[in-house]
Amino acid sequence: MNIIDILKKRRTQYALGKTLPMAENEVDALIREVVRQAPSSFNSQSSRVVILFGRESEKLWSIVKETLRAIVPAENFASTDAKIDSFAAGAGTILFFEDQDAVRELQQQFPLYAENFPTFSEQSGGMAQFAVWTALANVGIGASLQHYNPLIDEEVARTWGLPASWKLRAQMPFGSNEQPIDEKTFIDDAIRFRTFR
Ligand SMILES: Cc1cc2nc3c(=O)[nH]c(=O)nc-3n(C[C@H](O)[C@H](O)[C@H](O)COP(=O)(O)O)c2cc1C
Repeated sequence: MNIIDILKKRRTQYALGKTLPMAENEVDALIREVVRQAPSSFNSQSSRVVILFGRESEKLWSIVKETLRAIVPAENFASTDAKIDSFAAGAGTILFFEDQDAVRELQQQFPLYAENFPTFSEQSGGMAQFAVWTALANVGIGASLQHYNPLIDEEVARTWGLPASWKLRAQMPFGSNEQPIDEKTFIDDAIRFRTFR
């Protein structure tokens, strides 16, 4: 299969179920290998990843739900509640972090680029997220990208005993594809591309 076909398979899937096309161990190994292969600035490998299956994933979404319940007006909570349940309905969730100690080390090592490293770290994290999302799609696993950080950061670190330097950047619920996804629309090429030769 060529790269474009694989890229086209990666879409935002909200209708998730618990069936996986392979064993959890294999999904876990796939995610780890993809993150290892993702590029990072100065090969700093600043991305940190927590992989939650089953009950552990459901625990994450109940943290999100209870955190939001405390701040969303009760009359608006029904849609939030349903959305969070749809993430919890998946087989698992991947938490993506960027290690701020790795960023600080780079800043000390290369003072000339100090200002750039926080941005490079975000970009490296985005690459890891995209690579994992695409690799999951390639084996038939649906996923989406969520951002309930920083609201849930403290509770997540406490629940899974994570280092204080790990900054939560994204949550990726994944699982079986339970519904087809609408076709994607694109802006005009003239707006986004300029080729000179
Ligand atoms: C940096 C980034 C942040 C995103 N944040 C969210 C998010 O918080 N919640 C969500 O449901 N989708 C989020 N998305 C998914 C986009 O809405 C989605 O990728 C876009 O609409 C294109 O659809 P596709 O993923 O099916 O190609 C995010 C995507 C990117 C690249």
